[in-house]
Amino acid sequence: MKFSQSAALAFAATALAAPSPTTKEQPRQAAGCASAVTLDASTNVWKKYTLHPNSFYRKEVEAAVEQISDSSLAAAAKKVADVGSFLWLDTIENIGKLEPALQDVPCNNILGLVIYDLPGRDCAAKASNGELKVGELSRYKTEYIDKVVSILKAHPNTAFALVIEPDSLPNLVTNSDLTTCQNSASGYREGVAYALKQLNLPNVVMYLDAGHGGWLGWDANLKPGAEELAKAYKAAGSPKQFRGIATNVAGWNQWDLSPGEFSKASDAKYNSCQNEKTYITTFGAALKSAGMPNHAIIDTGRNGVSGLRKEWGNWCNVNAPGFGQRPTSNTGAELADAFVWVKPGGESDGTSDTSAVRYDSFCGKEDAYKPSPEAGQWNQAYFEMLLKNAKPAF
Ligand code: GLC
Repeated sequence: MKFSQSAALAFAATALAAPSPTTKEQPRQAAGCASAVTLDASTNVWKKYTLHPNSFYRKEVEAAVEQISDSSLAAAAKKVADVGSFLWLDTIENIGKLEPALQDVPCNNILGLVIYDLPGRDCAAKASNGELKVGELSRYKTEYIDKVVSILKAHPNTAFALVIEPDSLPNLVTNSDLTTCQNSASGYREGVAYALKQLNLPNVVMYLDAGHGGWLGWDANLKPGAEELAKAYKAAGSPKQFRGIATNVAGWNQWDLSPGEFSKASDAKYNSCQNEKTYITTFGAALKSAGMPNHAIIDTGRNGVSGLRKEWGNWCNVNAPGFGQRPTSNTGAELADAFVWVKPGGESDGTSDTSAVRYDSFCGKEDAYKPSPEAGQWNQAYFEMLLKNAKPAF
């Protein structure tokens, strides 16, 4: 509801912005490029394109700035709106965000989108359970993926980077003991393959979610993880626009901290991937063996501060975090295409309200910030924390 209204307003604003005599010399930049965009997924497209600071996150940040009375903090907060970040298409209704979001993407920018609406979503947790039930795969295909595909096709002059279905396949690798994940499994596999096949468009580059080093990086998970992902890639017909994996999405892991954050844990000997740099290298090798493209983008949106989690697996609104590295293709690692911001910092990971249907006990842990609203909702106090602890600082 709330969204449809603002989408309509955004459309109206665009439509009303007719050239006036005073702006004649400098016409508004049209969205996208003058001609069709062709992304070469055998190269690092982030060398050529900058992640677009999308207008939805910009609006969230601008509203947050209004609430800050300290003027130097407000000035710092304002700068966050200029950081590129991904836009989450987390419901069928929110596909409506796509058209308004692509209106202001210049030719040297790439719009990042998260494809996130599988049936039985978030099978190992509750906080992000989605709108589609297990068994509603045909709705996923026709009402969700096909709709996104038609919009991307209608905008061939705009470049898009996609992160496909966070947590889905990693959950099938490590949480197959849960009935919910067993029930979701076939829909995830077919759904992800369908998404990869249909979204294989010239103006698109795709990355499949691969969890993080503390997840598929365990010795015992590397091979099964790589095989699970490669199976989806092959089932999709080895799509040309597929580039590799997205890691640390909405995560907290450090890029190259050494020794790693959990290197002193009693089980550390079973996980050689103690930071994301080692993870993408080690898991990347496993992907290669499994026959899949293995370049990576890494979410550095909220990993500015290390040592906050009691355990690797704690994922919900981790307390006292800072914004991390800004999006860049200067990663210093051949397999790492770019650092990107995927999780919009300030949006919650899950509610801390124990009476809510989507309350997950991880959001009540000692190291989780409380109070926190429902997943995806804005948390002003959390945003300000990210800002104050940002590394590098704003
Ligand atoms: C969570 C939410 C989703 C939101 C996303 C980004 O996964 O479930 O609704 O869009 O985070 O904040």
